[in-house]
Amino acid sequence: MKNRQIILAERPAGVPDEDTFKFLESKVEEPKDGQVLIRTHYVSVDPYMRGRMIDAESYVEPFKVGEVIQGGSIGEVIESKSDKFKIGDMVMGMFGWQEYYLATENEVRTIDTSLAPVTTYLGILGMTGLTAYFGLLDIGKPKAGETVVISGAAGAVGSVVGQIAKIQGARVVGIAGSEEKISYLKDELHFDEVINYKTTDDIAVDLKQACPNGVDVYFDNVGGEISDAVMSQLNTFARVPVCGAISSYNLEEIDLGPRVQSLLIKKSALMQGFTVGNYAERFPEGARQLGQWLQEGKLSYRETIKEGFEAIPDAFLDLFKGKNIGKQLVKLI
Ligand SMILES: NC(=O)c1ccc[n+]([C@@H]2O[C@H](COP(=O)([O-])OP(=O)(O)OC[C@H]3O[C@@H](n4cnc5c(N)ncnc54)[C@H](OP(=O)(O)O)[C@@H]3O)[C@@H](O)[C@H]2O)c1
Repeated sequence: MKNRQIILAERPAGVPDEDTFKFLESKVEEPKDGQVLIRTHYVSVDPYMRGRMIDAESYVEPFKVGEVIQGGSIGEVIESKSDKFKIGDMVMGMFGWQEYYLATENEVRTIDTSLAPVTTYLGILGMTGLTAYFGLLDIGKPKAGETVVISGAAGAVGSVVGQIAKIQGARVVGIAGSEEKISYLKDELHFDEVINYKTTDDIAVDLKQACPNGVDVYFDNVGGEISDAVMSQLNTFARVPVCGAISSYNLEEIDLGPRVQSLLIKKSALMQGFTVGNYAERFPEGARQLGQWLQEGKLSYRETIKEGFEAIPDAFLDLFKGKNIGKQLVKLI
């Protein structure tokens, strides 16, 4: 059997393109004792992968040039030399951008397909949902009646943040980049106010209208000028969970904006970066609560699914073009 794989061919400068990735074929190896062979069904593509494509110190190791791109996936055990897994088990792990993955048994985790569709374990019940849950509740700490602003609001993380903020009784304002996303946030997720940052004449004016009582929590997924505008409207004791800065991920130069120290002092505001991994010990708590809200119908989710192994690089690049609503995935089989 042949295993199609996608490797990092070269480190991108600016927006990655077809030269960044290379398709290869290798032979599928047989599992040895304690190993399982997995056939990948779904691959997750995530903005943080852009950071791993450059050779810079970060909270995760850079990808190595010439190696298969790593990333979260879901697959089916098709051969097993492990007592813990049987053929047909659906499992998740970091199988990467390839059709088959030979795993040692401690690298993979069984998923319960009776609780929720398999894809949710890469989205709302996986890292995405947990990022929203801990970033908002542990750092943002929204109270009923407060105003929560979310950038990247119709994306995988942002759409969950807004719904959790609503559950907490907050007033939710979402910023996103297309009319389809604006309708989704308003009509399906019942955000109180929405702003299309691509069509607005003046985002500061729109924000003032959408947040007449100022901003108590700003959940930042994007950084850049959108965040500059929101930061200028923070209330005293505001909290700013800094989750992502996708507007800068493809920039070659350091992205300088207004310096925030004076503002944070004047407003006694808290701005805190985080990675979901900080909360690893509390993942079971987060997953339990997200699962319960999902079952109770208090949370919903969307997925944007591209089909076919060849589509993986495009699906990844679509994140930077804003083509996805909710979690971006690729279905292999
Ligand atoms: N801290 C953590 O542990 C952690 C974990 C997961 C994700 N993250 C971060 O959270 C953010 C959201 O991740 P996600 O997985 O949920 O992705 P996502 O929001 O589903 O997809 C990315 C979205 O970003 C928006 N975007 C792209 N380029 C932009 C730009 N130049 N300016 C403004 N918006 C832009 C696009 O939406 P529009 O159409 O609205 O532009 C796009 O759909 C990312 O920054 C990611 O790195 C952090």
